[in-house]
Amino acid sequence: PDNYCVFGNPIGHSRSPWIHQRFAQLTGQNLDYQARLAPLDGFADSLRDFIAQGGKGANVTVPFKHDAARCAHTCSQRVVLAGAANTLLISADGQIHADNTDGLGLVADITHNAGVALAGADILLVGAGGAAAGVLGPLLQAQPRSITVCNRTAAKAQALVARHQALAQQQNVQLLAQEQQALDRDFSVIINATAASLSGGAVPVPEGSVRPGALVYDMMYGPAAEGFLDWVWQQGGIARDGLGMLVEQAAAAFALWRGVQPPSAQVLDELRDLLL
Ligand code: ATR
Repeated sequence: PDNYCVFGNPIGHSRSPWIHQRFAQLTGQNLDYQARLAPLDGFADSLRDFIAQGGKGANVTVPFKHDAARCAHTCSQRVVLAGAANTLLISADGQIHADNTDGLGLVADITHNAGVALAGADILLVGAGGAAAGVLGPLLQAQPRSITVCNRTAAKAQALVARHQALAQQQNVQLLAQEQQALDRDFSVIINATAASLSGGAVPVPEGSVRPGALVYDMMYGPAAEGFLDWVWQQGGIARDGLGMLVEQAAAAFALWRGVQPPSAQVLDELRDLLL
């Protein structure tokens, strides 16, 4: 079989091996996919070892997405904008091409699995760290009417917006950074891309900004997302966790590697049952 893996630290709880092995079964692809723990200061060496062993491709998760972008010989426009990569393609001569499927996964989960249109939507993106940077480009390419970026540290939201302004204009999307106090409730889609729940922080979205029936998405899943999702329901929003994004970013990586689109909606249903 062709060898693939996911690098991370920690990596023990990663669902990616299960997801990719299931994709392979369902599409008849002969591949092996393992989790690999890389030392915090040793991503490049770990990747080199994997390539020397014949590795064909890799996913990359926390905290190595920036390292992955730096290690690559070529990278997609998505990686340039995000400053980070989650998917590596390794050619027969060992050249590394980096891509980032996180934003594609988010957009696919919202539009196909949740059935909410992003075209013409008014989106609030909360957070301006790596997770937000990884999805803003593909969100712009979904051609919403507007995207407002709001972050605890306003300067980071402004910098993220500035870096994406050319793409926004090209896509004819109104893109702006706004302070939390200045938000209204005009958003049809709200996306939480902060790490607030991991640090036990308060909900990072202001109360008044959720309008009834708005889709409020947390890029996290599992226990880390629970408090936020409960709060969303209390506010009258429609809550969705990031499990579908996890499966869809994997599906986009699988398609890049194998040229085959896996049945991601089925695998998402199966994974939800498995985690119940
Ligand atoms: P990641 O790669 O997961 O995005 P990051 O780059 O450290 O990690 O960014 C974390 C994001 O969560 C940032 O937007 C951060 O806000 P700051 O830029 O102000 O640090 C946000 N965040 C983390 N803890 C938060 C909290 N308790 N309340 C609000 N936002 C928080």
